[in-house]
Amino acid sequence: MSDIKVLGICGSLRKGSFNRMALHVALGLAPAGMKIDVADISAFQPYNEDVRQEGFPPAVQTFRDQITAADALLFVTPEYNYSVSGVLKNAIDWASRPPNQPFDGKPVAIMGASGGVLGTARAQYQLRQICVFLNMFPVNKPEVMIPQAQNRFDAEGNLTDETAKGLIKQLLESLQAWTLVLKRGRAP
Ligand SMILES: Cc1cc2nc3c(=O)[nH]c(=O)nc-3n(C[C@H](O)[C@H](O)[C@H](O)COP(=O)(O)O)c2cc1C
Repeated sequence: MSDIKVLGICGSLRKGSFNRMALHVALGLAPAGMKIDVADISAFQPYNEDVRQEGFPPAVQTFRDQITAADALLFVTPEYNYSVSGVLKNAIDWASRPPNQPFDGKPVAIMGASGGVLGTARAQYQLRQICVFLNMFPVNKPEVMIPQAQNRFDAEGNLTDETAKGLIKQLLESLQAWTLVLKRGRAP
């Protein structure tokens, strides 16, 4: 069987982002049979319906094509004011517009890292709500919430918290299993 293709989407643009570090840790923990590519949402302008009417900007079109081609998505979200970052919401808003809403039916895994003690719990539950509207199917468990991220990554971006690392590995394994279940369910 061919590899499951996963598109990783990070909701923080800053160079030293703990969420980007977490996504890179995930790349190294992907199980056999899973390949994770990373989306680039850094050039997206704020959503504007007038612009969309003229056609998706090239960076958005690329993102939409990558989502369509992916078997599953891995969202790595920061928490901004108890929600997902504007950058992530903006990218989802752009990609979600018709025709052919590309998120429809996608298996999804969610994880995140924050400076606070709840490790993006509130943002993740808001992201799950967005998944309902766009008909994505998130893995329920394990929940990967990395609190006080400033204490859990070293200067090279390695995750020093073995428990969190184990949870990321489990999350990817669950995503793989869930993706195969959904694929089988859709087989003719
Ligand atoms: C606009 C803004 C809002 C934030 N709100 C929260 C919050 O609600 N909860 C929290 O735990 N941390 C919050 N933080 C702190 C972030 O968790 C912290 O900056 C984190 O490192 C951001 O993720 P990143 O490292 O991937 O950029 C906020 C940071 C910013 C810039």
